[in-house]
Amino acid sequence: MDNRSIGFFDSGVGGLSVLKVSLGEIPRESYIYYGDTLRMPYGVRSREDIERYTCQAMEFFRSKNVKMAVIACNTATCYGIKKARELFDFPIFGVVEPAVKESLHKSKSKKVALLATEGTVNSGVYDKFFESYSSNIHIKEIGCPDLVLAIENGDLRDEVIVPVINKYLDKFEDFEYDALILGCTHFPIVENTFKRILAKFDRKVQLVDPAEITINELKEYLENHDMLGDHDEESIDFYVSSHKEKFKSTLEKLISVNDYKISLSEKVLD
Ligand code: DGL
Repeated sequence: MDNRSIGFFDSGVGGLSVLKVSLGEIPRESYIYYGDTLRMPYGVRSREDIERYTCQAMEFFRSKNVKMAVIACNTATCYGIKKARELFDFPIFGVVEPAVKESLHKSKSKKVALLATEGTVNSGVYDKFFESYSSNIHIKEIGCPDLVLAIENGDLRDEVIVPVINKYLDKFEDFEYDALILGCTHFPIVENTFKRILAKFDRKVQLVDPAEITINELKEYLENHDMLGDHDEESIDFYVSSHKEKFKSTLEKLISVNDYKISLSEKVLD
């Protein structure tokens, strides 16, 4: 048993899509969430900046004595996880490899589409993982900066989100994928909108959200190392680097905040 906290990190609200699954699957824990809302979007930033921001967030988690951390951001996983794992001695989980595994499991045609940030696409990290798991996979990747911003902005109504999603799906042209990776943790926040759009397609397309498999792996690790928590009350301490009210409004749309002991503070990292 280990009652230290688990840290979740994202550039903004995206990591909430992963935290939400963890709250359901791994109860009785205390969680810390850091959203770098001041410096988001990460998807357009340099490799060096993202690596530095990721390590700053892990340093913050270390100061909170976490037992482990989840980089609940594809872009930060692509650019920051390697260095972070070198520098910190607590286990650090990312979301990219789980997404690749899940899509190989779901795709029959071996044609997989990826929606992600431009940073994630340009990093080539998805391609590398696909190559290491399978030799006959076709993957087409599209960077979607406007979708990240639209979701972070918090107005999740169909009339706002559907045109943005359609703009990016159109870019796949005649690529006949049967699995679509939501390769940015912001995107599963509008998973139902994606489902409604895909339901109109003339072929079946499976959505891939890395959260479930990431959290399964996390849970297995905690169980195998006798590190599960046994708190009577689940708590989540949220920290954001700016836009506290906007963050709070999205948080309340996604997580039943009354079920947990919650705090929300502003914290700038440097
Ligand atoms: N949620 C993030 C991801 O999974 C990053 C969005 C951004 O800041 O550009 O890549």
